[in-house]
Amino acid sequence: MLQKDINILAIETSCDETAAAVVRNGREVRSNIISSQIELHKVYGGVVPEIASRKHIEKINQVIEEALSVAEISLKDIDAIGVTYGPGLVGALLVGVAEAKAISFAAKKTLIGVHHIEGHISANYIENKQLEPPFLCLVVSGGHTHLVLVNDYGEFEIIGRTRDDAAGEAFDKVARAIGLGYPGGPKIDRLSKEGNGQAIQFPRAHIDGAPYDFSFSGLKSAVLNYINSLEMKHEEINRADVAASFQEAVVDVLVSRTMLAAKDYNMKKVAIAGGVAANSSLQKAMHTVCKENELEFYHPSPIFCTDNAAMIGTSAYYEYIKGISSGLDLNAIPNLKIGER
Ligand code: KG4
Ligand code: ZN
Repeated sequence: MLQKDINILAIETSCDETAAAVVRNGREVRSNIISSQIELHKVYGGVVPEIASRKHIEKINQVIEEALSVAEISLKDIDAIGVTYGPGLVGALLVGVAEAKAISFAAKKTLIGVHHIEGHISANYIENKQLEPPFLCLVVSGGHTHLVLVNDYGEFEIIGRTRDDAAGEAFDKVARAIGLGYPGGPKIDRLSKEGNGQAIQFPRAHIDGAPYDFSFSGLKSAVLNYINSLEMKHEEINRADVAASFQEAVVDVLVSRTMLAAKDYNMKKVAIAGGVAANSSLQKAMHTVCKENELEFYHPSPIFCTDNAAMIGTSAYYEYIKGISSGLDLNAIPNLKIGER
């Protein structure tokens, strides 16, 4: 007997992207619509929560209609609605959650609440059709830096985390300090190609007794101090060298912790996820060390690294086939922990 296709309509509004997607059988992206608010928030140097929620309300219906239309599917052929319900900005999350609940109720569709970070991890399944758990995943986004053991679909165990700033946050703050604007990650990535990563020795923090944990606040302060000291001496700052040396310090720490964890936990597959996973230098360094250590390395394309709804659809699919769903009492949980429901 032919198995019926499972089509998930997914919605993501946790931060500054209003996104909807249709995903077939977990790994086939039929549409992936992202309406970015970056231009709106740029003038403020970061995301303004109130503006984000208002913009989500304005855009959400249109984005969903487009996702259905590009996928050439009507709502009646959708099997379930997946939606990010945390972590994220509460007002922003609420827009997606309310919308998903309304559609689920009106069209009598299964509702599945998805954890945003679990979604980022699942982005790896989209283009790597052969990837299956178990694997180790380094999650590096604007709000999170975690080392996660993906033991099975939907089964996650955090073994390392940042003690202060997230990796993406450090990129954004350093970018602001050298006048690159928001969001800083892609700009530092680009500028670093013109600089020397060995020019300035920035610190690599190690945390006693927590070999898989991260800390980026000392590195951020070291960059700011370096800039201030040159400014006081009226010396010129080589922004490309600062960007490249900062990026090299971040990548060094991310790669070494990940490799240590892969070895200690005897993981043969390593993946990266989240906005910072789009970083070209991180991808290159991970690729090289994984090859040296005979590990398989996986990463999503940049469009699936940063916030999108396709990854939420993939995550929702693996819940759906296990028979896991949410009730209409689903609520936004801004500080939702991985593996919690
Ligand atoms: O995953 P994401 O889109 O949103 C969150 O869930 O936070 O990640 C956004 C973060 C921002 O801090 C952004 O600067 C960073 O990812 N980012 C990058 C790159 N592209 C995005 N960081 C370094 N290099 C990049 N190419
Ligand atoms: Zn994200």
